[in-house]
Amino acid sequence: MKLADFLNEADRLAEEAQAAFATAADAKAVEAARVHFLGQKSGRLRAVQKDLALVAPAERAAAGKRFNELKRRLEAAHKAAVERVAVKTAPLVRRTFDPTLPGTPLRLGRLHPITQTIEELKEIMGRLGFSVADGPEVEDLWHNFDALNIPPEHPARDPLDNFHLCQKLPPGEAAEDAPGYKPVPFLLRTQTSTVQIRVMEQRRPPVRIISCGRVYRPDTADATHFPMFHQIEGLMVDRGVTLAHLKSTLQLFAKSAFSEDVQIRFRPSFFPFTEPSVEVDMSWQGGWIEMGGAGMVDPNVLQAVGYDTEEVTGFAFGLGIERIAARRYGITDIREFFKNDVRFLKQF
Ligand code: DAH
Repeated sequence: MKLADFLNEADRLAEEAQAAFATAADAKAVEAARVHFLGQKSGRLRAVQKDLALVAPAERAAAGKRFNELKRRLEAAHKAAVERVAVKTAPLVRRTFDPTLPGTPLRLGRLHPITQTIEELKEIMGRLGFSVADGPEVEDLWHNFDALNIPPEHPARDPLDNFHLCQKLPPGEAAEDAPGYKPVPFLLRTQTSTVQIRVMEQRRPPVRIISCGRVYRPDTADATHFPMFHQIEGLMVDRGVTLAHLKSTLQLFAKSAFSEDVQIRFRPSFFPFTEPSVEVDMSWQGGWIEMGGAGMVDPNVLQAVGYDTEEVTGFAFGLGIERIAARRYGITDIREFFKNDVRFLKQF
């Protein structure tokens, strides 16, 4: 075999093999190319090696040198291909599911501190025999005012002190000098006392309920006020219910909600729906803090729902839940409850 032919053959094989290794798409293709070109038995390099013996002895040194060079290039091309497909498959390997890893911890949610407080208040009052009642937050004037003995001229009914609902008028109906809506006789309830009426309209005495929920007043938000807040309302109507029952109930409530040494005191007050009426204070840090109002249900209220005032009497109370929660958790600004800041909320 002529040296020139041998060198040509070597060059062609180098080109072909390098192209094959460079384009092999995966480990399987690289291995197939290895067998084809570098295979010990019948690989193409092996064939060239056999041709080497056919080159004239005088030219064999030159041919042998080229053969060694060819072999090195093929082996280098193979090695590069092996590394290339390994890099390609590496991310796949890393993404493989490993059941021994600890996993991503779930962030557990929890109840809002106000909700937690409500749950506990329901539990306490449940032990005293009070069941839970509910009423709507959008309320009519009858349940929010009239039936509660709050007359039309009462300052609490001032539109500026309430969130009244309005109805949007169709474009044609709005007068030029008037806004495009008209008031409707509904408002966001300002007190949970509405539920007293709703329950008594539905049931005959005896009644022993509490109701917890949101109420709304257009107050400027500060450390102790918020336009939306929560109240717990209590109502007991039966034969022979007296102010003593009211006081002992609230005393038990305070001891259960806070601690055994908490005292309560009544201060004379006025509410349209109770007679007599009291402000309820609870002892705290050497002083007294006002928790809400209470009293004996006014006969006008009992008559509004058709109860016989000769037969039954009742007591009622309404306390602020933010006050209770703030005291339980040592919070000095109730706005914190409504910021939805998880760093605050996850403490409870
Ligand atoms: N509804 C009153 C308020 O929002 C609180 C209240 C006072 C409720 C006396 C009562 C009560 O049931 O008897 O300020």
